[in-house]
Amino acid sequence: MVDTASSIELGFIGFGNMAQAMAQGLVNSGALPGGRIHACAGHFDKLQATAEKLGVNAHREAAEVVEASDFVVLAVKPYLIEQVVEPVRDLLAGKAVISVAAGRDFAFYESILAPGTHHLSTIPNTPIAVGAGVVACEQRHSLTDEQLGAFVNLFGQIALIEWVDGKLLSTASSVAGCGPAFAAIFLEALGDAGVKHCLPRATAYRLAAQMMMGTAKLHLETGEHPGAMKDAVCSPGGTTIKGVAALEKDGFRGCVIDAIDAIQGA
Ligand SMILES: NC(=O)c1ccc[n+]([C@@H]2O[C@H](COP(=O)([O-])OP(=O)(O)OC[C@H]3O[C@@H](n4cnc5c(N)ncnc54)[C@H](OP(=O)(O)O)[C@@H]3O)[C@@H](O)[C@H]2O)c1
Repeated sequence: MVDTASSIELGFIGFGNMAQAMAQGLVNSGALPGGRIHACAGHFDKLQATAEKLGVNAHREAAEVVEASDFVVLAVKPYLIEQVVEPVRDLLAGKAVISVAAGRDFAFYESILAPGTHHLSTIPNTPIAVGAGVVACEQRHSLTDEQLGAFVNLFGQIALIEWVDGKLLSTASSVAGCGPAFAAIFLEALGDAGVKHCLPRATAYRLAAQMMMGTAKLHLETGEHPGAMKDAVCSPGGTTIKGVAALEKDGFRGCVIDAIDAIQGA
């Protein structure tokens, strides 16, 4: 039964960066105890060590994970998906299969899973580890209403669930899945600038990180246009507009757009 989030048994095939971030977010938020999470990976010894930290059940075989779980998250690198699905293809029928693999959409899973298997393609991001993630989901899926409700109840506790058309999933992945790397570079750069102007590094990072979190929260909670948020900080002839002008001169917006273009192969 998967009628409530707390009764779910959740499996991970692959327990690397993304799977651990999801498990960490669920366990540390209290959304799901580690004892209800099952995982397998390429190297069992390494898995045991990471699973133990979260109280997650480590399994040697993918089949054991599938048998123990209502929801099975496919969290291996995209090129390995077919290889890990093939031996458990029949066992996955009747489960809810959640993909987190980049570039693997509804049509792909229809072609490799047993007919009638319930599945959903998603792209999460690593801030899900601290309950502030994004899970971009393809609008087209084949979960039952009950499975969908349980999925949203569970992951909605640690992430914004955003539904997008299949052809936009890779763009959503570039913005929200790759975005943490860009945001981390911005954070590091602000830290370097603070240090250049004599702030202790730890202080500079804390100030910059809290500022980024607060700015994001302000936008999410008010829906205010980013341009209006920028204008609200720029008084005429003031200091902030001088910084904004320097960023524009150096092509800040263009650099960010170029980064997404590079991922999308544009
Ligand atoms: N990282 C991100 O920010 C991010 C964001 C969105 C989506 N994703 C997606 O998440 C997926 C995983 O990425 P990742 O960054 O977590 O990769 P990762 O850290 O390299 O983890 C991959 C996991 O797969 C395991 N694995 C390898 N071969 C296996 C097999 N035959 N059977 C079972 N498990 C096997 C690995 O185990 P061993 O290490 O023991 O070999 C490891 O636990 C990818 O499809 C990626 O597109 C990642």
